[in-house]
Formats: sequence, C-alpha cells, structure tokens
Amino acid sequence: MVSSDARRTLAFYRDVLGLPFVKRTVNFDDPTAYHLYFGDEVGSPGTILTFFEWRGLPRGRWGIGGVHHLALGTATPESQLKWKRRLTDHGASVSGPLNRGYFRSIYFTDPDGQILEIATRGPGYAVDEAADALGQREVAPPVDAEIIGRRDDAAIEALTHPELVPDVTPDMTLEGIHHITGITDDLERADEFYHRALGLRIVKKTFNQDDPSTKHWFWGSYDGETVAPHSALTFFGWPKGRREARGGVGQTHHIAFRVRGDEEQRAWQDHLRALGIDVTPVMDRTYFRSVYFQAPDGLLVEIATDGPGFLIDEDRQKLGSNLQLPSWLEPEREHIASALTPL
Ligand SMILES: [Fe+2]
Ligand SMILES: [Fe+2]
Repeated sequence: MVSSDARRTLAFYRDVLGLPFVKRTVNFDDPTAYHLYFGDEVGSPGTILTFFEWRGLPRGRWGIGGVHHLALGTATPESQLKWKRRLTDHGASVSGPLNRGYFRSIYFTDPDGQILEIATRGPGYAVDEAADALGQREVAPPVDAEIIGRRDDAAIEALTHPELVPDVTPDMTLEGIHHITGITDDLERADEFYHRALGLRIVKKTFNQDDPSTKHWFWGSYDGETVAPHSALTFFGWPKGRREARGGVGQTHHIAFRVRGDEEQRAWQDHLRALGIDVTPVMDRTYFRSVYFQAPDGLLVEIATDGPGFLIDEDRQKLGSNLQLPSWLEPEREHIASALTPL
C-alpha cells in the first residue's frame, strides 16, 4: 500500500491495530522511500501488510483495475465489536458490523484513506451452498435483512463493545489477511485469468449487499472442501466504462500470493510464460524472492517465496527496530538514512 507519512502509518498499524512491526527497510527499487512491513510476531506469510512511503504523491482512488479494500481477520463477533470500540475511540469512523452471511464485517479507513475491513473467521462460504459445490451458480446475498435499504442502520451503528478497549487483548489479535477485494469490469475474464494463471477457484458468485446491482464474486485456494485461510480474493463487477483506479496515496500498489520456495516459483513463472503472460525475472527482496505480472484489468500481482523470512537479518525480539538494507545498498547507508524521516 502507499503511505504519505511513515510515522503516521506506524502509529496506526502498530499502535492502534496492534500489528507487530516486523521490518524497517527501503523500497529496493527506490531507496529514498521507506518500505515498512507489518505482520504477526515473525512475519508469517499470509499476515504481511507492507507500505511504501511516498511523500507528496497525489491521493489515488479506487476503481476498475485496483483494490477496493483489504480485510483482516478476527476470531469472533465479540472481538470484532471490541475493535469497533477501540477504533472509534481512536477517532476512526467505523461502519458495521454488517452480517455478510459468510462473515461479519466492520469497515474504516487508515490515515491515508485506504479502506480496511475487519472480518470474522466464520461462518464461512458453506452457509448457503454445499461445501463441495461452492460457486457453481449465482446466489442471492445470504442475509436478506442486511441488504442496503432493508437493514436497520441505526441499530447497527449503535452496536459496540460497552467498555473502553485501551489494549489489544489476546482475543482481538488480528489473524492476517482475510480477503482482498478488487474491482473489475469483466468478472468472467477475471475468473478465467485467476483460474488459469494462478489456479484459484471460484467459491462464491453473489451480489454486493451495499449495491445489489453489482455482482460480487469470490475466489480462493479451494480443494473442493475447504477454502484455505488468507487465500480469498474477491471482485466487484462494475460495468465497462466506469472509472478506473488511479494509483497513489491511500491505495494498494500490488497484492502478493505465496509459494513455498524457489522451485515452485520457477514452475509458476514457466506456467505464466507458457500462457503468454509477461512475468518478470526473479527479484531478490532479501526476505523473499518475487516475480510480478499484471492481471488483465491492470492489477499488479506478485508471487513471493515464503523464505528466507524476516529473521534473516534481525532477532525476533529486535524485528523492526533498525533500518535494514540489502548488501548492495549498505555502502550508501548514511546517505539513505539521512534522507528518511526518523520513526
Ligand atoms: Fe470485504
Ligand atoms: Fe510486494
């Protein structure tokens, strides 16, 4: 994602959302910019959110070809209400909880305007379809009473945790990426692409409860029985000609999928090339290795290896405490560090 102010981003994600700050480095392609990583305690794949700090970059906007929002997971509706209370008390404007049928959702924005959601773990995609036959036909949103115009907005707004939530208690721990939602103007093409290119399987074809004229489709790593955690990618289907996404502050620059290691990554690279997709050479990102390509709508997609991981250059207790640079930037450390705002 793109931040306009690294200090403010750190204050929000680490101090309000309680996400461990696991790496303080620079954008390897633009060492004048911070690259900040948040995750779980050790930066496990599936939990990583990262930010480039580009001061002075104009604000972006969401639209076709971009990401609309990012959802983080929480265990239960009770922990979600604690989040609503904590975020509200920190000045965020929080909407929900809305019962999306498959999970419950609250929404808010980070200080740069990036739309965030906190979604409950369950009940999951099998509430309105058989678990071994997800996504095979279009289904109406599962909770009719929660569709816009029918839901009781005043009651939803009033719902919150009754007490102050000064600390992120263990039951509130955010569980990494629950799903990412983008916008496409061609759901069929997106389905074809993410299935053929990345092996994702459609798990739900439904409608946006907040705008029932818009289709909302979900994909995931689905083996025909369960949808793997952290794997859900969803798209709103907009009509052609509606506004396109514009990159910038408060927007998502790219999304990344994981592979176990180099060999698997090479296999995906070969597979993508065989499909005629223009995929980059492998790039060494110190903590993982990455390849990048573009989806048909323009979304930049990365495939990153799980390893070597964030402990390669810092102890677990020290993660995020010092500016870490790759060896080829080490000779310029003083120059690079002096141009960065102290955190
Ligand atoms: Fe969502
Ligand atoms: Fe990345």
